Amino acid sequence: KDHILTAAHCVDGLSANRLRIRAGSNQHGSGGKLVKVAKVTQHSEYDAKTIKNDIAVLKLVSSLDFGPTISAVELPSSADDTPQVGTRCSVTGWGSTSAGGSTPSNLLVAYVDIVDHKKCVEEYADRHEVDDSMICAGVKFGGKDACQGDSGGPLVDASSKKQVGVVSWGFGCGQHNQDGVYASTAAYLDWIQGAVLAV
Ligand code: ARG
Repeated sequence: KDHILTAAHCVDGLSANRLRIRAGSNQHGSGGKLVKVAKVTQHSEYDAKTIKNDIAVLKLVSSLDFGPTISAVELPSSADDTPQVGTRCSVTGWGSTSAGGSTPSNLLVAYVDIVDHKKCVEEYADRHEVDDSMICAGVKFGGKDACQGDSGGPLVDASSKKQVGVVSWGFGCGQHNQDGVYASTAAYLDWIQGAVLAV
């Protein structure tokens, strides 16, 4: 009730007092409750060039009230609690509906499947390194993906409801064989726990 998981590139260099989080609304700019951020913890080895360690935790000034529209997401139980290839996941956000396109005001969801890590490494071999702390998801022929503005949002296993990834990067959006790349929450479990426990 006191922490928000996001991508480091969303809050890179920003001080906590510039940030608000909106909880309990599916509208981008209205509804729910705005809460101030007390502290930003971004991964100390986040690298804007390689987009490695693209993970951050925000501590809220006041606790969220859980109810029908606000609740916590579950994380993997250990570093090897990772979804199998083909696992159906939801990715949600207010990002653009196509590369360079407009952004919706209603929260959108897309269902994408976990992609074999080696396949993802190969897809991006000539453009960008996909490291072991990244996890990829997409659909066979493209067309479903996260996009600009979705970053920091959750990739959630549709059956276990655990958050398995944080929207991080991709080349274009929804292109065939250019799957969405996410920071793996299983890979950062210890880091997340450390950030949450730190005062
Ligand atoms: N970096 C983007 C953002 O800041 C997210 C891009 C995700 N792209 C993709 N094709 N899955 O919102």
